[in-house]
Amino acid sequence: MKVLTAQFLKSALRSEDYPRDRRPEIAFVGRSNVGKSSLLNRLLKRKGLAKTSSTPGKTQTINFFDINEKIYFVDLPGYGFAKVPKTLKDEWNRVMVEYLKDRDTLRLAVVLLDSRHDPSPLDAHMLDLLEDAETPTLLVATKIDKIGKSRRAAQIENIRRRLGLDHDAEIIPFSAETGEGVRPLWEIIDEKIAHDA
Ligand code: GTP
Ligand code: MG
Repeated sequence: MKVLTAQFLKSALRSEDYPRDRRPEIAFVGRSNVGKSSLLNRLLKRKGLAKTSSTPGKTQTINFFDINEKIYFVDLPGYGFAKVPKTLKDEWNRVMVEYLKDRDTLRLAVVLLDSRHDPSPLDAHMLDLLEDAETPTLLVATKIDKIGKSRRAAQIENIRRRLGLDHDAEIIPFSAETGEGVRPLWEIIDEKIAHDA
């Protein structure tokens, strides 16, 4: 899809406040600081549209972005950031789980994993939750620019193995710095929304 317009629409913390016009949605999920907001900006070629920060816990609400007045991209708060107080963590979790379980216009959850690290139990839990909700899921390995070319295949295989995925399960290497992965990611997003057009 060619991005003609991309605008912040609204932030929400509960389902009454989600957009109601039933456009297809693509959501970006993953632990704090994994690069969700950066990936969204890179896909849209809009630096700074979604707020990013080197400090984990930047995105604290469900943020809806209107793309071409046709679909929504949804930037979610990260999970698993230790320094957030427990009450707030519980609240973000509630918000995220409510969104992912109940949103029937959600066409694809893009799950981001840091290519440098082992996936956490929370990542595995998130994949289980999405599977239970029968939400189509796509895995992306972020910050791939930080890994030497010789190590990347092994790192990605390590992620597959630790999540118990098949050897040929798709994981898209992605870099918000270099733009690697933008094209394959858009191809899959376009496929998911094709029958909505
Ligand atoms: P929360 O909103 O806190 O959950 O974080 P987030 O997942 O939205 O991460 P964000 O996009 O804010 O990025 C976190 C940090 O990682 C920032 O300092 C980014 O500049 C950096 N970062 C994100 N993507 C990449 C990447 O592909 N390569 C490199 N080198 N740095 C990245
Ligand atoms: Mg963010």
